[in-house]
Amino acid sequence: MAATPSLLILHPRLTLLAATLRPISLVHRQFPLHPPTRNQLPVIFAHSRLYSSSTSPLATATPFSADSSNVNETPRAGRSGSVSSPPHQAVDYAQKIDVNPPKGTRDFPPEEMRLRNWLFQNFREVSQLFGFEEVDYPVLESEALFIRKAGEEIRDQLYCFEDRGNRRVALRPELTPSLARLVIQKGKSVPLPIKWFAVGQCWRYERMTRGRRREHYQWNMDIIGVPDVTGEAELISSIVTFFKRIGITSKDVGFKISSRKVLQEVLSLYSVPETSFAKACIIIDKMGKIPVEEIKKELKSVELSNEAIEDLLQVLSMKSLTELEEKLGGGGEAVSELKQLFSLAEKFGYSEWIQFDASVVRGLAYYTGIVFEGFDREGKLRAICGGGRYDRLLSTFGGDDLPACGFGFGDAVIIELLKERQLLPELPLEVENIVCSLDPDLKGAAARVASVLRGKGQCVDLVLENKPLKWVFKRAARINARRLILVGSAEWEKGMVVVKILSTGEQYEANVDEVE
Ligand code: HAM
Repeated sequence: MAATPSLLILHPRLTLLAATLRPISLVHRQFPLHPPTRNQLPVIFAHSRLYSSSTSPLATATPFSADSSNVNETPRAGRSGSVSSPPHQAVDYAQKIDVNPPKGTRDFPPEEMRLRNWLFQNFREVSQLFGFEEVDYPVLESEALFIRKAGEEIRDQLYCFEDRGNRRVALRPELTPSLARLVIQKGKSVPLPIKWFAVGQCWRYERMTRGRRREHYQWNMDIIGVPDVTGEAELISSIVTFFKRIGITSKDVGFKISSRKVLQEVLSLYSVPETSFAKACIIIDKMGKIPVEEIKKELKSVELSNEAIEDLLQVLSMKSLTELEEKLGGGGEAVSELKQLFSLAEKFGYSEWIQFDASVVRGLAYYTGIVFEGFDREGKLRAICGGGRYDRLLSTFGGDDLPACGFGFGDAVIIELLKERQLLPELPLEVENIVCSLDPDLKGAAARVASVLRGKGQCVDLVLENKPLKWVFKRAARINARRLILVGSAEWEKGMVVVKILSTGEQYEANVDEVE
């Protein structure tokens, strides 16, 4: 494999080729002639997938010309088939990339993607069952949309930066502010009530725990323009419908329900300033996460008296509506709305899923009325979903307020729960047909067969290479094909193909246009 001296002089690019090819003899000593297995590959193979010139004359030679010190590095994921390098460009060995996604984020290889699609399909089907329309917003929004003054955790978790036009932008941590923005933008052109749903990726720089990550998808359903608790009752009904569809029962999951109006009514007894309300809610949401003494200290800092704090903490421990009614009386909105919601739940048929729990206040500043959270009854996981009424969010963005309620449901905790309950669906790859030519000259004929079938809406995996039948059968099993369609010269001359039903082994000839 030596380049001639004259070539070296005449063609500088070939000089490079020759120089690059030279160490191949070394390679042969380290690797046998058959392709190296994954474990034998030096680390640069994984990274050279970044380049895309598998046809480059240097493609096979360049990776092996690596500094021999690389050869013994820990093998990483990667395939020999995907090895390539940039044409006529030296590989930058210093540029080793971590092949794992950034901390807290996920790749979705095919099997994970099937699960995600299954989950999202259920989100979408349930939303449509309830008459909601799908919307989406940009993942990148103006940072100002997410800055509220109440001291929410979500603000500290914001992925924000200045773009090249010096605008402060953020990756959305939730969808609700974008929804509010779009509702204001649409104005009166959209008739009320608005019933929208979305499934979108959200970003929060979270401390990672089970089911909490830095990137997650959220299913949201929101109703704008309905002031009654029928809105919240409908939303909870849709989540219950979703749970039932995927095999989760009221023994696995429940909803804790309360109202921010409970706190408002308690605080109104102590002439606490209006501006302290949202801040107090955010502090109270930390109950169970930080010591009670710390909570009390923080509540004092937002102008709550000791008396108000003690009263508040006592009310927050209530788990029965009757007890709450005794404390607040039956005339206030808090009790009457909660009672109405529980009565509607009975009519909808999901009473066994819900319970009153005054400790639920939620960690976002904008809620104004009913709030709820889905929880797993074994108490192993973080909140599965959460939502509530936010009748005054629009005016914080300069719009006219409209009654609004909604919920967010993440994709991570529910998958953990399904795993726990062994309810994860089996979602194998399924391609109905595999089509293969028995002769390299019949590749075009096989392509025609595939096109005819695809035209009839049939899924086809077309074997693109020249492969032995044994390989084709293995592939058919891997993709769970129902039929193998073989294009051989004797049959093709008559416009026929061989169809093999893989589950039974039954085999017959069929006219290509008549295969259904
Ligand atoms: P949220 O409680 O912050 O509410 O989030 C809703 C749901 O999103 C959570 O219950 C959880 O399932 C999921 N989630 C939140 N953060 C993470 C994370 N770091 N990793 C995985 N999952 C997460 C909201 O976002 C409100 N905007 C919901 C809403 C819509 N309220 C009214 N409309």
